[in-house]
Amino acid sequence: MDSVTRDGDGQLCLGGVALSTVVGDPRAGTPAYVYDLGAIRAEARAMRAAFDGAPHVVAYAVKANSAGAIVRVLREEGCGADVVSGPELALCLEAGVPPDRVVYSGVAKTDAELDLAIGAGILAIQIESAEEIPRVAARARAAARRVHVSFRVNPAVEREALATHAHIATGHDEAKFGIPIDLVGAGLDDVDRHAELALVGIGSHVGSQLVTTEPYVVAARKLFALAREVHARRPLSFVDTGGGFGVDYGAGCEAAPADFIRATRKEQVAAGLGSLALLCEPGRSLVAKHGVLVACILQRKAAHHRRWVMIDAGMNDLMRPALYQARHRIVPLLATQGPLADVTVVGPVCESTDDFGVYALPEDASGAVAILDAGAYGFTMASRYNGRALPAEVFVEGGRVVGSVPRDPPGAWIADRLRS
Ligand SMILES: Cc1ncc(COP(=O)(O)O)c(C=O)c1O
Repeated sequence: MDSVTRDGDGQLCLGGVALSTVVGDPRAGTPAYVYDLGAIRAEARAMRAAFDGAPHVVAYAVKANSAGAIVRVLREEGCGADVVSGPELALCLEAGVPPDRVVYSGVAKTDAELDLAIGAGILAIQIESAEEIPRVAARARAAARRVHVSFRVNPAVEREALATHAHIATGHDEAKFGIPIDLVGAGLDDVDRHAELALVGIGSHVGSQLVTTEPYVVAARKLFALAREVHARRPLSFVDTGGGFGVDYGAGCEAAPADFIRATRKEQVAAGLGSLALLCEPGRSLVAKHGVLVACILQRKAAHHRRWVMIDAGMNDLMRPALYQARHRIVPLLATQGPLADVTVVGPVCESTDDFGVYALPEDASGAVAILDAGAYGFTMASRYNGRALPAEVFVEGGRVVGSVPRDPPGAWIADRLRS
């Protein structure tokens, strides 16, 4: 399911729209994220179809991309949401995501955030430590509500087994996330002592950008063995195996989201939990491939044997390369036949990590480029570092632009900083 194509004139297109039109559009400007809503819709449909009619919730991890247009499209496709903060929860409720399809994860929730979740009556507040149980119970008592909670457990799957970047491995025993399996029993006793809490689910999320199903299935098997014991003592309504389905950033990705879902469902049935709803929390796999970051070349530099191409997008717009040594493909908007040269593509930010890597680009490349597969963890991590504006966002569907949000207006940052 690739959103990016080239038309007969060599123009790079996303969702059938030539990206050069975005560059010239004063409503956006560059750098600009462009997203293909139609492809995101199709991605959600394919994921939901993989459950073959079994009870499920695809709880979209909003942290990957919180653009309202995307959250609404996924809601229309029947997805729920996995949120990790009060503002993400409020956004989803405002965008019409049904509360009974929303789970709220996060290791340190404020009282105000818990109150919002309790008031909205979401599917479950995911409890991430034994210490969080009395805090949620206190807020439930204050609201005079019986609150649905689930345990996010930490299945202790080692980083190496996950074969992903250490910074996005979350289900190992040194991570701050989740209740260690050996503490779950005491946690259950504690929930039982609080009449205002009802345990409805058990889940885990072991890491992101998993390119094979094995580590995910290993974690799911551990989770289901535990869930089976718990379910025998008090009926659960769901099990949740988290997000993490990988995407192909250019180095390949063996497994598709449907492979993860089918393999997990098989384990769930084998564990005797087939009647429970199966939740997953995909973020990246719904949106990454269907967004690009368009940037203009501002400057070239050659010194000794090195060549640089400097673009108007930096690590403040797309942080993944600086944060995780991630590599995205970078291609010119207009295909050229000329010779290629290896150039280091960098942004304007005053940091050495503002470096997207070395790419073979046409020697005479000028104009604009697209950083591919940038739909996830792009804009949501963007900042105004160095006084830079937040990037524009453009949404396409059915071969046309259907919406856009311009860059921060000039002067917004200055006014903001002068408030002190
Ligand atoms: C609890 C939780 N669920 C889901 C996700 C989404 O992961 P991904 O975008 O890899 O699918 C994350 C990502 O960090 C997470 O922490």
